[in-house]
Amino acid sequence: MDTLECLLTRRSVRMYKPDPIPRQELEEILAAAACAPSAVNLQPWYLAAICSPDGMAAFRDTMRQVAVKTRPELEERFPNHPQVIRETESFLVSLGGAPACVLVFLLKEDYPDRDNVLQSASAAVENLLLAAWAKGIGSCWMTAPVSAGFGPVLRDRFAPGKGELVAAVSLGYPDQTPRMPKRKTGRCVFL
Ligand SMILES: Cc1cc2nc3c(=O)[nH]c(=O)nc-3n(C[C@H](O)[C@H](O)[C@H](O)COP(=O)(O)O)c2cc1C
Repeated sequence: MDTLECLLTRRSVRMYKPDPIPRQELEEILAAAACAPSAVNLQPWYLAAICSPDGMAAFRDTMRQVAVKTRPELEERFPNHPQVIRETESFLVSLGGAPACVLVFLLKEDYPDRDNVLQSASAAVENLLLAAWAKGIGSCWMTAPVSAGFGPVLRDRFAPGKGELVAAVSLGYPDQTPRMPKRKTGRCVFL
């Protein structure tokens, strides 16, 4: 798959087969994430790959609490779409059966420029999604655990002493073929 095809066909996958991801594949995906560009070449990310059943069970425990905390916001945002609320909540609770998840943290707490490091870590997340997709592995980028306030809990459990949680990414072999959500127009200009 060439690069453009990879980024045009990548989808957020929210239903996975239970098959584990081979360690070698995970290592290559994380290495690709760490090849992202970064402001001042700080490489300010810390990637925690949760792939053991115990680790995933602990992560799912927290995600159940994330789902409870997220519900009122979903109800406010999608008052006429109960199906969207149900599906989002069900994914947060089950993680779609994902066998692995990568938590993307900042490496340390005291960066002077938060914008720089958040943008850099986000570039690493996108690299991660694309590297996974190129290997036939689906993913879903999640900030729900951050916005629900569970970043510190996840950091203490999975990356003690590191910086803030930027995102969580579920990973697994897809058990669905999601359609591309409609892209909005009018977001580009050529000058
Ligand atoms: C910064 C960011 C945060 C996201 N957070 C969530 C999330 O918490 N839960 C979720 O199910 N999807 C989340 N997504 C996935 C988006 O919903 C998804 O990318 C979007 O619907 C477009 O679909 P596509 O990825 O298949 O193109 C997030 C994506 C981004 C870039």
